[in-house]
Parts: sequence; structure tokens; C-alpha cells
Amino acid sequence: MKVIAVEPGAGDPVIEERPRPDPGPGEVLVRTLRVGVDGTDHEVVAGVHGEPPAGRTSMVLGHEAVGVVEDANGTDLAEGAVVVPTVRRPAAEATSHFERGEADMAPEGTYVERGIVGADGFMAEYFTSAPEYLVEIPEELASLGFLVEPISITEKAIEHAYAARSAFEWAPESALVLGNGSLGLLTLAMLETVYDYDRTYCLGRRDRPDPSIDLVESLGSTYVDSRETPVPEIPAVHEPADLIYEATGYARHAFEAIDALAPNGVAALLGVPDDWSFDVEGGRLHRELVLSNKALVGSVNSNRRHFETAVGTLAELPETFVDALVTGVFDLEDAERAFADDDTTIKTAVEFADT
Ligand code: NAP
Ligand code: BGC
Ligand code: ZN
Repeated sequence: MKVIAVEPGAGDPVIEERPRPDPGPGEVLVRTLRVGVDGTDHEVVAGVHGEPPAGRTSMVLGHEAVGVVEDANGTDLAEGAVVVPTVRRPAAEATSHFERGEADMAPEGTYVERGIVGADGFMAEYFTSAPEYLVEIPEELASLGFLVEPISITEKAIEHAYAARSAFEWAPESALVLGNGSLGLLTLAMLETVYDYDRTYCLGRRDRPDPSIDLVESLGSTYVDSRETPVPEIPAVHEPADLIYEATGYARHAFEAIDALAPNGVAALLGVPDDWSFDVEGGRLHRELVLSNKALVGSVNSNRRHFETAVGTLAELPETFVDALVTGVFDLEDAERAFADDDTTIKTAVEFADT
């Protein structure tokens, strides 16, 4: 079978031939339909996040997959069921986090992430998985199933952000998304259409015309250019935000978000920046967090429950938004186009089999 493999930090992903995997006991064989590409995949390709399985220099890429059960192998899953795999697997023995279905809260070192850290991903014509890591989705969502994983990332982050505000009557009205990449835009659409925020803002650093700015405005949201309005100035120019969702990976934003929050607000941090040292006004920001009851919540990965919620969210997103978000779905022969990193590309996927 064909796979898309990468040697992190050593060049572009390439198509390779690998033996089709046999499902082990209790595992199913899945025929891959589509696999999405996100900022993390670009970070894996560049060698700045993740690593291949121990003892290897290359790995199969891809963690945003949708496929069809080809061989149920005696499990309860039906052949033909459309499924989306979760990303984390135990590094060795399943720990209590996995046993509780909370792999997303497992400490580093106790898990691998398929296509990212220590395990092959899903950019292969077939993959195997235990059914507990496969979430069934309706057949009519098969062509967009690669969006379930990134949506689940935001379901988790929002759940944790709201949990941090659950001890009092919190009635958020305004939300600010930092980042106009695929994760930021998906989240903006969720906050506008599913979470029903009155006013939303999305930060980027692009000149018009730009498809991501068009998308922000088509959602009824306000585009904020970080070159004109740095994050700490957003409250003065627009308004302070009750909820902030950081999806730039720009490390200063984690701290600048404190100034952009409204009193009692919460910022969810999603970006995975490189090491970077810089000065912050630590005393003032610490005081601001305390005296204004503000919260910062880091969030990574997502568990099966978030995937299940994400399926419903995907069905609710406006078709016009999704059509504009997904700028390309490419056959294997054209797969390099799915990894383009230019201003016309928002969300892409590689197609392994017809949906
Ligand atoms: P992406 O496509 O690279 O999006 C990042 C966006 O942020 C880009 O559009 C970039 O603009 C913009 N940006 C960066 N610095 C900026 C600045 N200073 N001012 C304004 N805009 C800025 O990546 P993604 O897939 O959307 O993911 C976003 C981040 O979340 C990445 O760091 C990724 O690693 C992380 N992530 C985390 C999780 C998790 O579980 N925590 C899950 C998925 C992704 P330009 O394109 O114009 O440069
Ligand atoms: C993936 C998550 C993963 C995170 C950190 C994200 O792009 O969607 O599943 O936990 O990267 O590796
Ligand atoms: Zn991802």
C-alpha cells in the first residue's frame, strides 16, 4: 500500500510503498478515505515538534483521519462503518488516564501520538486500530470526517475554559480568536454558530485581499491585524474579550492575552511554540490575573467524548463556511499540494479512497 512518510527536518513528505498492515487480535482494519493537514503536520515535517517511533528516522504522517472499517476482525464494529480515529495511544502499558478514557490528560512519556510523536500516522491506504480508539460518524459526514479531530481539539479547550469559570455566574458575550489558520478559523465558526457569542474577533497578520480574512468577515466576525493592533491594545480599539482562544503558536500571545481579557475572563492556550526567551512585565501581569479574576488554561489533544461532541458540531457548521475553509482535497499523486503553505491555502486534505 501507499503511505505518505516524512523524515522530520530532512525534507518534504514522500510517497512510499509499505506492506498493508494485518489487524492484531482485537484490532480492526480501516481503509483510509481522507486525512487532513494542519499546522502540527508542518511542524512535524520541519522537525520542530514530535518525533518518529524509537529507532527510526522516518514515520507515516497524519493524525486527522476518516476511514471505513474494511475488516471488523470479530469486533463489534460493523464492516462499512465510517470511523474517525483518536490520536493518542499508550506508550507501553495503558495507564489510568487511558483506562478512564482521558488519554488527553496523560503526562508526556506515557503516550504516543499517531503521526506526531513515536507512532506512525494515518496517511496510508490502510491502518489498524483497536475499536476503543475509533469513533463512528454518520456516512453523510464521511467526506468532511477529517475535520472531526481538529474540532475535537476545540471542544476540549472550550470545556476546560468553561470549567475554569464554573464557580460563578459567567455569561460570556465576546470572544477573541488569536490566529487565522485552520484551527483558529474552525474555532471562530464554532464560537459564532454553535456557542452563540454576540461579538467575535479574529487576529491575523495578512493583507487584504486574503481568503482567511474573507472567511472571518463572512462569519460576521471582525478581523484584527496584529501589525496594526497588537493584542494588548485590542480592548482599547475594540473591546476586552470574555474568552480568548490562542491558536497562533506565537509565545508572546500567551502573556498578551492577559491584557486583552475582560475581568473574570479566560484564555485557552493551544499553540505549541518553540523555545523562545523574552521579557514580560511579570509583576503587573500576575497582579492583573489576580485582581481581575482572570484565568489561563493550556489545552492539548482531546478524548473520545470530545470527538463525539465534535461530530454534532461538524454537522451544525454552515456549508458555505466549510466549503470556503477547505481550499483543497488532493489525490495521492497530487499530495504535495496538500502541504502548500501559501496565502491561498487554508485547510487541505489528502484523499486515499473515494468518499
Ligand atoms: P497554522 O495554520 O500555522 O495557523 C497559525 C496562524 O497564526 C497562521 O495563520 C499565522 O498567520 C497566525 N499567526 C502566527 N503568528 C501571528 C501573529 N504574531 N499575529 C497574527 N497572526 C499570527 O496552524 P493551525 O493548524 O491553525 O494551529 C494553530 C496552532 O495550534 C499551532 O501552533 C499548532 O501547533 C497548535 N495546535 C495545537 C493543538 C493542541 O492540541 N494544543 C492542536 C492543533 C494545533 P500566517 O499564516 O499569516 O503566518
Ligand atoms: C493534534 C493533537 C496533539 C497535538 C500535540 C495537534 O495538532 O491535533 O491531537 O495532541 O497536536 O502534538
Ligand atoms: Zn492537529
